[in-house]
Amino acid sequence: MALRLGDIAPDFTAATTEGTFRFHEWLGNSWGILFSHPADYTPVCTTELGATARLRDEFAQRNVKVAAVSVDTLESHQGWVGDINETQHTTVNFPIIADPDRNVATLYDMIHPNADDKATVRSVFIIGPDKKIKLTLTYPASTGRNFIELLRVIDSLQLTSKFRVATPADWKAGEDCIITPAVKDEEAVTLFPKGIRRVKPYLRYTPQPNR
Ligand code: BEZ
Repeated sequence: MALRLGDIAPDFTAATTEGTFRFHEWLGNSWGILFSHPADYTPVCTTELGATARLRDEFAQRNVKVAAVSVDTLESHQGWVGDINETQHTTVNFPIIADPDRNVATLYDMIHPNADDKATVRSVFIIGPDKKIKLTLTYPASTGRNFIELLRVIDSLQLTSKFRVATPADWKAGEDCIITPAVKDEEAVTLFPKGIRRVKPYLRYTPQPNR
């Protein structure tokens, strides 16, 4: 059965371009992003891994570790990294998991046979420090992902794990948040001293509490 939000991210041991690791141990207390790509030496995947590498500082600031995976071999990944660095003007600085026996792909249900029965689709799993899955995304091979969006989601997840707020459509860090419906008006006054903008009884905004 497919993994769902709140499930524990399956643990595994795998060879990667940064050495063999046990996934949970490698994550430690960090947040994690595990994302699959269809195949090495393909154009869209090359741009995706380059985009991820260029965001290294953004992920580090948020205490996020990133790992990529495909069903290619370690030797293939190692050769391809040179092309990514050359063409994307960056240095790949995160592990790419070799999964030729499809162990990780199967654990995370990354192969969707009606799309492609041999390769992983573009799956994304955001994993919290508690090792629980906080977000899943599935993109087709033909569409490269927006990694800035993943940072935006991480910002929202980290904020909403600490404060009783949610984030509205297209929210970006620093913008007003929504007070969750479970918070009563009397309680909200104490919880959100920066102020409350009440548009409807169920739609109440407050400045981002930790800014
Ligand atoms: C790509 O990364 O460019 C790609 C991979 C598999 C199918 C289509 C495109």
